[in-house]
Order: sequence, then structure tokens, then C-alpha cells
Amino acid sequence: MGLYQNVNDDRPYVILNAAMTLDGKIATKTGDSKMSSKEDLVRVHGLRASVDAIMVGINTVLVDDPSLTVRYCEGKNPMRVVVDSRARTPVESRIISSKSPTLIATTSKAPEDRVKNLERAGAKVIVCGGGEKVDLKILLKKLKEMGVRKVVVEGGGNINWSFVSQNLFDELHVTICPFIIGGRDSVTLVEGDGVARIDEGVRVKLYEVKRFGDEVVLTYRPLR
Ligand SMILES: NC(=O)c1ccc[n+]([C@@H]2O[C@H](COP(=O)([O-])OP(=O)(O)OC[C@H]3O[C@@H](n4cnc5c(N)ncnc54)[C@H](OP(=O)(O)O)[C@@H]3O)[C@@H](O)[C@H]2O)c1
Repeated sequence: MGLYQNVNDDRPYVILNAAMTLDGKIATKTGDSKMSSKEDLVRVHGLRASVDAIMVGINTVLVDDPSLTVRYCEGKNPMRVVVDSRARTPVESRIISSKSPTLIATTSKAPEDRVKNLERAGAKVIVCGGGEKVDLKILLKKLKEMGVRKVVVEGGGNINWSFVSQNLFDELHVTICPFIIGGRDSVTLVEGDGVARIDEGVRVKLYEVKRFGDEVVLTYRPLR
């Protein structure tokens, strides 16, 4: 990961990573998101092993039930972080039940009984603001204070939008997979409200292009 530079004092280095179809979707209309080749999975698991934490949104946990561990290469399992304002992460989900540590980032609006259940199941729960959604700046600051220097964010589309629109990322890795799947309700790389004009969008700079057969892995950095 040649790009890594720890330039922010108040947050860890943030890498957004996603696998996307040629038509910009990260899952089908039913939530099927398994589109990466074995080579790309090896790359992603290498990325996981190189960071201190992996972060996903609660919908990704509810739809995919991922374990977010390192399996396709040798390496340590980083801490898992779920962005989950109401503490909806099921205690029986893989992210709670398997071995590496799990942090649930909530808001003060999360029901106490759910928080207690998650803590009883072994997760650490932290409060990041009192708004409708988890305040990502507070979350990143707390992660930094906990010693997390580098995070990979693995979606989904709503979480990606929040990181992109708040300019809270340092790299974006997108694997373009050789599928066209359509579906107006299929989740795209970034969801959210979007902008009205192209020049209001977040401008990124292409840094690297890699090819695995029919897949292309693009690495971008934000233009600040
Ligand atoms: N191809 C890929 O690389 C890839 C990777 C990951 C996921 N996926 C797919 O993406 C889909 C899920 O994406 P999604 O967009 O529906 O959900 P998501 O981004 O995984 O989770 C979004 C949810 O996170 C919670 N949240 C809390 N604070 C937030 C904040 N500051 N910003 C944004 N969200 C916040 C909200 O729920 P609360 O209000 O309840 O907290 C929100 O609805 C699944 O189908 C999954 O398979 C694909």
C-alpha cells in the first residue's frame, strides 16, 4: 500500500474499498454482492490484514452477515467496527460470534437493552453523538484515541456516501467486476442525496490501475 501517509492528527487514515459492477452497483436488487474473483479477494484480505480496523454499515451486516476476518491470505484479523446508530446488530451475527474484537458505534438514541445484549455477547459499544446517524468524525476521533491508525471501510453504499460527501477518506479502491446487473433499487457505490451539479461532486484523482483478467482495480485519492 504505497500511498499510506498519516496526514491527519484527528482521525486514522481511511481507505474505502468496494467491488462494483460495470453499471455501478455493489449488490443486486436482492442484496447479492458476491462478485469478486479469487484474485480480488486475496487483494482485499491482504488489505484487511494491513489495517487496524474494518468498518461496515449496519445494513451490510443485516444483508450479508459477513465475518470480516482475514481468510484468503496469512495475517492478523483487525478489529471490526459496525456503524449502527440504533444498536440493531443481531447478537447471533458472525461479526459478534467469531473471534476477533468487535466495536459497535451507536448514538445516544440506541435502546439500552440492545446495547446491554451486545455488550453481554462480547462487543464493545461506543456512543458517537446524539443525532439520527452515527457522527463519523466523532467515531474516527475515538478510533484514533484507541490506537487505530488505518481503517478500511467496506461499504455499503450509504456509508460510502457519508465518508465521500464529508471528505473523510484518503484512498478509494474500486474493483470493476465484469457484470451488468441493472435494477433501480440495486445499491450503488454511493447512495445518499447526491449533488445537483458535476462541479459540486467530490473530485478524485486516479492513482493506480491493476488488471486481474476481466476485472480492473482502480485506486483513487481525493483532490483536496
Ligand atoms: N460489493 C461490495 O463491495 C459491497 C460491500 C459492502 C456492502 N455491499 C452491499 O451493500 C448493501 C448495503 O448497503 P446500504 O447502503 O443499504 O447500507 P450500509 O451502508 O451498509 O448501512 C447503512 C446504514 O448504516 C447506518 N448508519 C449509521 N450512521 C450512518 C452514517 N453516518 N452514514 C450512513 N449510514 C449510517 C444507517 O442505519 P441506522 O440508521 O439504523 O444506523 C444506514 O441505513 C448490501 O446489499 C451489501 O451486500 C456491497
